[in-house]
Amino acid sequence: MKKSLLILTGHTKGLGKAILEGFLLQENFQILAVSRSGLDMRNDNLTQVNLDLSDLEALEAKLPEIFPAGEFKKVILINNAGWIGEVKPVGKLEPRAIAKAMSLNTVAPMILVDAFVKAYSDSKSERLICNISSGAARKPMPGWAEYCSSKAGLEMYSKVVAEDLREKGFRVFSLAPGIVDTEMQAEIRTANPSDFPALERFTDFKSEGMLSTPQEVAEKIFYLLSNPELFNDVVQDVRNFEAH
Ligand SMILES: NC(=O)c1ccc[n+]([C@@H]2O[C@H](COP(=O)([O-])OP(=O)(O)OC[C@H]3O[C@@H](n4cnc5c(N)ncnc54)[C@H](OP(=O)(O)O)[C@@H]3O)[C@@H](O)[C@H]2O)c1
Repeated sequence: MKKSLLILTGHTKGLGKAILEGFLLQENFQILAVSRSGLDMRNDNLTQVNLDLSDLEALEAKLPEIFPAGEFKKVILINNAGWIGEVKPVGKLEPRAIAKAMSLNTVAPMILVDAFVKAYSDSKSERLICNISSGAARKPMPGWAEYCSSKAGLEMYSKVVAEDLREKGFRVFSLAPGIVDTEMQAEIRTANPSDFPALERFTDFKSEGMLSTPQEVAEKIFYLLSNPELFNDVVQDVRNFEAH
């Protein structure tokens, strides 16, 4: 039987780790996973690539390694790696951090989607792209200028990709995962209250048990990518559907 291929970024923690664990249960999936660090695990179906995705020159050099040639039943790219950016108001931001947030959250996924399309445009595989977005792509949040802007850029890119590739058999989703109990949320809760007016709301989300687990969200992502025909729109939110 032909194998399927998953290319996943940000697989070492949080949501990405839960997505990886779900796909590793599928015997017929070969997985190529990209993060700065690696997981201490050996699995014949998993290849880990250590790469800082905000280093765009290093990313370009690694592209041939990230998109293996071959015929697969299904090829999926999940752009999941992301950073909240500096949680500070405009006027207190660092140029390097602005560039890092935009490179990691917007530019690297753009480059990866473009390379994915180049690599598999002649393939007969089912081809799916899932860019992990955020409600912050659509809602301006004081203190999150880098994060909101980078996710908004990625969401618009996903919409244009869908237009460009409508006739070419690729499906693309821009998926908001809800509020997930990960290190990113823990980092948000360390913000200075004077820099982040919504801090108390985010600490309450955690203390009142309102966060989803990474596993719950990963199950929904698996459901979406297993049943793309049930989802017409590019922009999706896990809070709007159940994994049946
Ligand atoms: N958690 C939430 O509530 C929430 C809400 C909305 C959207 N999201 C989105 O969901 C996605 C996953 O978030 P998460 O909460 O699971 O985050 P997380 O726990 O902080 O994990 C981030 C992952 O990305 C990798 N990563 C970070 N910087 C990287 C870099 N420069 N190069 C390569 N890999 C990098 C990390 O691995 P290394 O450290 O090994 O590099 C890690 O595996 C992100 O796109 C985030 O914006 C999360």
